[in-house]
Amino acid sequence: MREHVASARTHRLTIGLVPTMGALHEGHGALLRRAREETGYVVATIFVNPTQFDRPDDFQKYPRDIDADLAFCERLGVDAAFAPDAKEMYPGEIMTSVDVTGVSARLEGEFRPGHFRGVATVVAKLFNIIPADRAYFGEKDAQQLAVIQKMAVDLNFPVTIVPVPTVREPDGLAMSSRNQRLTPEQRRIAPVIYKALCAAERSIQAGLELLSVVPEIQVEYFEAVDPTTFEPVEKMAGPVRIVTAVRLGDVRLIDNLLVSIR
Ligand code: PAJ
Repeated sequence: MREHVASARTHRLTIGLVPTMGALHEGHGALLRRAREETGYVVATIFVNPTQFDRPDDFQKYPRDIDADLAFCERLGVDAAFAPDAKEMYPGEIMTSVDVTGVSARLEGEFRPGHFRGVATVVAKLFNIIPADRAYFGEKDAQQLAVIQKMAVDLNFPVTIVPVPTVREPDGLAMSSRNQRLTPEQRRIAPVIYKALCAAERSIQAGLELLSVVPEIQVEYFEAVDPTTFEPVEKMAGPVRIVTAVRLGDVRLIDNLLVSIR
């Protein structure tokens, strides 16, 4: 990877990095296309990072299709794909990790203990393996994006973090590799998540009601938070981000929406 990136640099190309866990869809596609537009040499990474999974069954059941992923990358004009195995990324015991305090504490951090430590650590490793000018992350995982932005500033990574808007299915469901795991019945139900976020744009209370009437969905959290600190907002003044995680059968889905309130 270093040789490829160094060679691109000698050709005066800027480097764009798109970290993923594979099972690529048009959400990842938006990141890759944006990187393709803005940088001269695009690297996609495909690695189902074991250290960010809090449940072993979630890790095992995570969709994997490396051949389709490589074909997808090729179609989008990606220059290099880095798909290491776990032994290459973690050859020995892990003694060093990155903890972004504050923004990691609540919501995803609370429901998935250790999750953001795993994410921040693997992204720091990828930033060191692939010295990129720009790295692309989706707003679909808004808290993850905020964690990585804070890490990049605090640890002086010489990379610009570029946020990319959430890509949705025509019915509003945020694209996710985990959507594959939904049964047809669950898939039919899933668009109510985005409908709920939109309803909450008008009224948090109305949004909560919309989710609670669907018996198949259990809400883990549904909150309005400060977009920077992810602390709960006490007063609905200024922009807030509404964030939610629900369970649909054994599948856990998250989504969020930025709301400007005057
Ligand atoms: P993964 O879930 O594969 O997502 C990779 C990137 O694609 C993330 O930045 C995510 O926010 C973005 N993404 C996923 N679905 C999207 C959608 N519908 N619209 C726009 N962007 C979307 O997030 C991870 O992998 C991992 O935690 C990772 C950062 C790679 C570290 O292991």
